[in-house]
Amino acid sequence: MRGLRTTLTLAGARWLWRRHRRSRESTPVSAGRSGAELLAWGAAAAALGAGASALSERRRARRMNGRVVLVTGGSRGLGLQLAREFGAGGASVVICARGRENLDRAVAELTGRGVEALGVVCDVTDPEAVDSLLDDAVDRFGRLDVVVNSAGIMRVGPQRTLPDDAFVQAMDVMFWGPFHLSRAAMERMRGRGGTIVNVTSIGAYLSVPHLLPYSAAKHAWAALSEGMAAESGGSGVRVVTVVPGLMRTGSHRGVVFSGNPEREYAWFALAAGAPLLSVSAERAARRIVAAAASGRGFLVISPIARIGLAVHGVAPGLTQAGMRLVGRLLPGAPERVEERSGSEAADSRIGRLVGVVAALNERAGRRMNQSSRAEERRRDVDSGKDG
Ligand SMILES: NC(=O)c1ccc[n+]([C@@H]2O[C@H](COP(=O)([O-])OP(=O)(O)OC[C@H]3O[C@@H](n4cnc5c(N)ncnc54)[C@H](OP(=O)(O)O)[C@@H]3O)[C@@H](O)[C@H]2O)c1
Repeated sequence: MRGLRTTLTLAGARWLWRRHRRSRESTPVSAGRSGAELLAWGAAAAALGAGASALSERRRARRMNGRVVLVTGGSRGLGLQLAREFGAGGASVVICARGRENLDRAVAELTGRGVEALGVVCDVTDPEAVDSLLDDAVDRFGRLDVVVNSAGIMRVGPQRTLPDDAFVQAMDVMFWGPFHLSRAAMERMRGRGGTIVNVTSIGAYLSVPHLLPYSAAKHAWAALSEGMAAESGGSGVRVVTVVPGLMRTGSHRGVVFSGNPEREYAWFALAAGAPLLSVSAERAARRIVAAAASGRGFLVISPIARIGLAVHGVAPGLTQAGMRLVGRLLPGAPERVEERSGSEAADSRIGRLVGVVAALNERAGRRMNQSSRAEERRRDVDSGKDG
């Protein structure tokens, strides 16, 4: 009897132990399964959310039907994509830039898409040219509803290697340009209504090492934009401040690199083309047009920019320490300072390697009407700068 009890107890214990082991073994599997299910549900919800937000952005863009929109820097990059997006919403567009060739190509493309488009050669640093740009827009389309300040330039390199003129130029294009245009547009829109959209940058709020002229000018512009928004209450004019993080516009080819140009080009082009760090120009433009149509006053584009801005808001010392670290990782100022455009730097061995890794931004450049090195060479030859 005792033997039977022992046998039964041992068999029961064995059964319990096996069951426990099986349940322990099966726990991670079932947890994995429910984890996978959760992941699938999460992905489906995210896809639905993204779809719904794209649909509502499209709906808002359609509010632009019949409006007249002026985009500075609309010949290529984000400005061109904004013109396409406003045009797709039914607006007529006026785009301006300094270079005639890209401008003509952009107008031809917009017209081919069925968008009523006018291209005006205009340097935004010239207040008189800016005034006549506004006249041209109203003469051609009879009204002006939205002005987008998107024109921008960039010089990359350690501050020690940059001439004072780099700061003067940055302020001219990205502070005084939007200053004159916004003020003149505001006067014309007062009482009748309108929207001014200022494309600043996350660099306006987080000063990025090796981008000091850009960050300083954008900082001043962001302050101007927010101040204008604060003062415009009751005027019928809305001011939208846009703060993009990195966008894949293909603009790295047109940037001027100083110090050790190839190495500066390498870090910049890699960051600007990294999928997790940057957003597509198409996505950015959709969001900006939706903000212009919906009356939103402040728009931050890209998750990284949102996180950076939030952290800077609560712990500026922390972001400063982060930027100091970034500064230490970037190339130092060499003895012999050189300067090259992005297209030239891209022609080097390291540049070609970077081009393979940053393929997304290279492709974006072709979609965004950015000039290739071959085109630049041809222009240099035509203008007698080469050979
Ligand atoms: N790409 C990014 O990652 C990024 C991130 C944050 C903010 N942003 C901002 O977004 C805007 C667009 O950037 P993007 O990458 O599209 O630049 P982009 O491709 O270099 O385009 C710049 C545009 O501005 C025009 N432009 C430059 N100087 C001008 C002047 N003095 N007068 C009139 N037009 C001028 C250029 O044409 P011409 O050279 O023929 O004049 C071009 O059409 C800029 O304000 C930039 O600072 C860009």
